[in-house]
Amino acid sequence: MGIVLGIESSCDETAAALVTTDRAIVAQRIASQDAEHAPYGGVVPEIAARAHAERLAPMIEAVMDEAGMALADLDAIAATAGPGLIGGVMVGLVSAKALAMAGDVPLIAVNHLEGHALSPRLADPTLEFPYALLLVSGGHCQILRVEGVGRYRRLATTIDDALGEAFDKTAKILGLGFPGGPAVERLAREGDPRAVPLPRPLVGSGEPHFSFAGLKSAVLRAKESGKHADADIAASFQQAALDCVCDRLAIALDAMEPVPALVVAGGVAANRAIRTALEDLANARGMRFVAPPPGLCTDNAAMIAWAGCERLGQSDPLDIAARPRWPLDPEAEPVRGAGYKA
Ligand code: KG4
Ligand code: ZN
Repeated sequence: MGIVLGIESSCDETAAALVTTDRAIVAQRIASQDAEHAPYGGVVPEIAARAHAERLAPMIEAVMDEAGMALADLDAIAATAGPGLIGGVMVGLVSAKALAMAGDVPLIAVNHLEGHALSPRLADPTLEFPYALLLVSGGHCQILRVEGVGRYRRLATTIDDALGEAFDKTAKILGLGFPGGPAVERLAREGDPRAVPLPRPLVGSGEPHFSFAGLKSAVLRAKESGKHADADIAASFQQAALDCVCDRLAIALDAMEPVPALVVAGGVAANRAIRTALEDLANARGMRFVAPPPGLCTDNAAMIAWAGCERLGQSDPLDIAARPRWPLDPEAEPVRGAGYKA
């Protein structure tokens, strides 16, 4: 059995965790920076990097102490090396390099998206490759065929906003604060999902890509009209987003070589309405549905440590670079309009 220290600092969660190859999360710490970023309504990269720099070292010390472990006991140190906000990524990666050097332990540079993509296998030992993955977070919205560690085929991405971003922007329009996803989900429970007519961008189109910018603008117009209760807007937005996701997924699943399981990962996978809709979609197609527990969906270091477990044996050089962009499928065709989220 091996044990890996994971470090995550690519956005606004600072996190460290120890995970074994037999899927035990031995110790973990996670600190969100919501309070620091809330006054600005979004993540401020410079503030995020400073907060990571202050919090990470004591956090690593805490997980090592809790497990009663020394650096020499580790089989590898895995750190997010991208994609993400580069200042934060550098804090985590440089810390991992220093520890790897001090303890003479292999360094594994992990793609944050791969952390999300493999996290369902940490939660569910029976989940085998290949599987279909809906990866929905604050910065990414993709459908992938996960064929093995490091082997991803991207079938769809967003041509504008990511799904989590759409939730966050809706929350901002409704004055629900930041981060918005959980707040929109809570308010949506009190509203009528059919009350506000909202568009379903790209639904009905033959390509499986996502678009949420038009939906966000329609939410803004609905709010400004003064005609609707906020709860109805939240519920109708969530329903429209959900309809888009299910329609896009159906197209992508039809287009990909069949797989036995539909898997969801990333922060938005914590959303209960989305989990239920995806489970129904999987059942209707005779597929298994797998979703990690909500705490493993939003950013965390256990998924980075797990990606390190999956990659055990790899040893990255100490001069490996932090990467603001790092697509899981470099061969994927560029998509009209897709920017940094591709
Ligand atoms: O994976 P994650 O923690 O960070 C990124 O890598 O982006 O995802 C964060 C995103 C945010 O946009 C947040 O609003 C969204 O996930 N999110 C949710 C929920 N929980 C988090 N969206 C909808 N419903 C939720 N319950
Ligand atoms: Zn993430």
